[in-house]
Amino acid sequence: MTIPRILVLATGGTIAGAAESATRHDYRPGQITIEELLSRVKELGIPAQLTGRQIANIGSEDMSPAIWASLHAACDAAMNDPECDGIIITHGTDTAEETAFLLDLTLSTHKPVVLVGAMRPATAVGYDGLRNFANAMRVASDCEAAGRGVLVVMGDRVFAARDIRKNRTRGTDAFAGFPRDSVGLVTPSALEWFGAPWRSGEPARFPFRQQLPDVPVLYIHSGITPDYADRLITAETRGIVVCGVGEGNMPDSVRQRLVELAKPGLQVVRASRLGEGLVDREPEDDANGFIAARALSPAKARILLQMLIAAGQDDPAAIQCEFDRR
Ligand code: SIN
Repeated sequence: MTIPRILVLATGGTIAGAAESATRHDYRPGQITIEELLSRVKELGIPAQLTGRQIANIGSEDMSPAIWASLHAACDAAMNDPECDGIIITHGTDTAEETAFLLDLTLSTHKPVVLVGAMRPATAVGYDGLRNFANAMRVASDCEAAGRGVLVVMGDRVFAARDIRKNRTRGTDAFAGFPRDSVGLVTPSALEWFGAPWRSGEPARFPFRQQLPDVPVLYIHSGITPDYADRLITAETRGIVVCGVGEGNMPDSVRQRLVELAKPGLQVVRASRLGEGLVDREPEDDANGFIAARALSPAKARILLQMLIAAGQDDPAAIQCEFDRR
């Protein structure tokens, strides 16, 4: 049996969190080091060679382009290192889906890349981090995990980066996939994939860039007026994602203001504030010059739009084709 060689890149989050007691609700993410986590993992006796590296130790609300750059560089080097079989990234659950999606767009995943987190801190009774980590090891050791893009393991399920959404603030089953649910089921001793890898041999879709264009998100709510959009847009703004009600809807007055802004070249993407928010193109999107986010959440639609604008794409029809791609 060959022992899988896995690089573990730690960024913090609740999986590395600590509280003053095993039962307290309040705790601080990003408190224990990768060495401490790996020494607890070692006690599980799973055959694997783990090498840890601390990239950051933060709550994932503080994830930044600079940390993304370090993480991307470490993943890229590991992808080209013949001594590495797979990568695990420990991450806070609040923004894990954004980091996973960014890496999914900018890495060629010919080796497994797996993000993992926890909903309960390392000091808590019923800490889910160790089980999730053992599951992540199972996935990162499986050659069939390659060619599925970046994966996220939470609560005995494997999700694709494009689909995963955190949809609960509490509980160990806080994640869902949309429009696909999980792409696999995992325990420390078993792994079942639903279908074959769908991205084998694909190169990275975009080069990684630390500097991305300014693209704010406009949250639509009752009583919103066009000046809310004006307040978000500066001379540097190149696009805006509308976190719309229902199927990406917004009041007429706001739509009119965005039509005026879209004409000189500001890209407008309509997404939905709903957890299962599929937003398809409407006939009026053609006339308005808008783009439909399809199944992407507003946060992920923002990342994809930033990538496309940074790559020099300024044609809404071509941008729409990229949002239509799975
Ligand atoms: C975080 O995202 O860093 C805190 C929440 C979590 O990891 O569950």
